[in-house]
Amino acid sequence: MQTHRGGSGTEHIAHALVIGAFSLIGVIFVPIGLASLAASQNTVELIDRYDAECVSANDKVGFIQDTKTDKACTRKITVPKPMKGPIHIYYQLENFYQNHRRYVKSRNDKQLLYKDAASTITNCEPEATSEDGGAPIVPCGLIAWSLFNDTYSFSLNKKAVEVNKKNIAWDSDKNKKFGSDVFPSNFQKGGLIGGAKLNEKIPLSEQEDLIVWMRTAALPTFRKLYGRIESDIMASDEITVVIQNNYNTYSFGGTKALVLSTTSWIGGRNNFIGVAYVAIGGICLFLAMGFVILYVIKPRALGDPNYLSWNKENPDHPN
Ligand SMILES: *[C@@H]1O[C@H](CO)[C@@H](O)[C@H](O)[C@H]1NC(C)=O
Repeated sequence: MQTHRGGSGTEHIAHALVIGAFSLIGVIFVPIGLASLAASQNTVELIDRYDAECVSANDKVGFIQDTKTDKACTRKITVPKPMKGPIHIYYQLENFYQNHRRYVKSRNDKQLLYKDAASTITNCEPEATSEDGGAPIVPCGLIAWSLFNDTYSFSLNKKAVEVNKKNIAWDSDKNKKFGSDVFPSNFQKGGLIGGAKLNEKIPLSEQEDLIVWMRTAALPTFRKLYGRIESDIMASDEITVVIQNNYNTYSFGGTKALVLSTTSWIGGRNNFIGVAYVAIGGICLFLAMGFVILYVIKPRALGDPNYLSWNKENPDHPN
């Protein structure tokens, strides 16, 4: 060993540690990344945008606001790969700003949770009190008022398929944010109808569609869980969906789509995690290799003061 150039034993250990650490990160991260990519690629995701084709009239807003028109719309979805249950059903809205400052504040969390707080309607304008007589609306505010109201019913090869709408909301929301003794009242009565109505006999803690809707999305394109199909779907099956196309996204140019998705251990279809792991692991392996090559062709002692610029003229300089 060149003792004056390669450095002491501790320096060899230091080099080995750096190279070993980078290699280890690479060796761990790359397979994790590849596994997540594979899992993500294996999930099947079908997206069917239907807002345009489900309205034949030229005056789309007029059509959707007319309570007498038939809003049923039949869609056929082909399944390219077998889908293993549970299959998640989402609705996807685009250009819908649930994060708008005035919208996102238009609710009263106290009222949602406590039975005695029905008349606590601060922040809820313009959906605070009913048009006739001014009784408090429960749940008040714009978020609840604009509850999504398209519905989907599915059949497979002409046989109806049940949609499980239980447990679509977070347990923490059901237990801690919405009261089990708070019931809707004066909701969506009179005035402009913003969306779905609520059954007044069911407490808010069990109105899962409402709970899902009220966990507001941070981005203008978002998906919300509608329900699940518990059975498997074969590749040759034909899914027929009858959509009740009620919700008015037409007046602000929003779009609507139905999404069916299987899940794997990383969740739905999402390549980001996999790509990130592979990239970081790859960079680490690359650096480790670089260090090995440098160490072999041009070893230098760690912390050698001879490399400092003001020592460079030193005739004893190793180079
Ligand atoms: C659905 O919501 C729209 C507003 O987006 C409303 O005009 C319509 O009356 C509602 N329809 C039903 C059936 O709830």
